[in-house]
Amino acid sequence: MSRTAAVVPAAGRGERLGPGAPKALRLLGGVPLLVHAVRALATARSIDLVVVAAPEDGVDDVRALLAEHGLVDSGPGRAGTLVVAGGGTRQDSVARALLALPPDVDVVLVHDAARPLAPVSLVDSVAAAVRAGAEAVVPGLPVADTIKAVDEHGTVVATVDRGSLRAVQTPQGFRRRLLAEAHAAGDPDAPATDDAGLVEALGGTVLVVPGDEEAFKVTRPLDLVLAEAVLARRRAAGVVA
Ligand code: CTP
Ligand code: MG
Repeated sequence: MSRTAAVVPAAGRGERLGPGAPKALRLLGGVPLLVHAVRALATARSIDLVVVAAPEDGVDDVRALLAEHGLVDSGPGRAGTLVVAGGGTRQDSVARALLALPPDVDVVLVHDAARPLAPVSLVDSVAAAVRAGAEAVVPGLPVADTIKAVDEHGTVVATVDRGSLRAVQTPQGFRRRLLAEAHAAGDPDAPATDDAGLVEALGGTVLVVPGDEEAFKVTRPLDLVLAEAVLARRRAAGVVA
């Protein structure tokens, strides 16, 4: 048997969002961001197990929260969930969650709790691309803004060719063995901001597949305003969330 797991780093503080609870526990439509993200993963047909890396002092609270939303035990068409303690960096949190994976998992998706509205269809398309043979897969979108490189004074040194740039999202999908190797080789003192970066450092091949605008990351307060609007539109359209 081979199974696909999703790992959810959710141990960040959310400093850029401003004072308050850890970001994964902030509410969107009355429900914590983490619950939205886990529900999408657990509902995706491709995912058999979800492992959440919770704030170190909040493991029991997160477990209780997921239970309250019916997201701990597997059920018909829904994956079960494990909760482990996260670490001091995103990379460390993912590494800790990887250690909790059962042996029969051979494909792993890593998905930020801070991307609560990533569609189930995106989860399935990333998993399918790994199952189809890619060793590492990231969803990406063309960059809308013109990007300029500057020197230390703020003077422009170059306008980067936008055509070859992609803003990448999560879920990112990997052959499990490659992701574990990439994390083992990663430098804890210079942590990567995404998992594909670790695979690239090892010389692995990373494929970009089409991303989804709704998979945006909630980072700053305005992102939460956008997320509320997207959720309200989904609810009005009768999409359960
Ligand atoms: N994350 C984590 N462990 C950490 C830091 C981040 O699991 N030590 C997770 C966050 O919970 C989030 C994802 O990694 O789901 C993406 O990180 P980011 O958007 O930077 O979230 P925060 O680190 O919480 O936010 P900030 O950087 O503004 O403090
Ligand atoms: Mg962060």
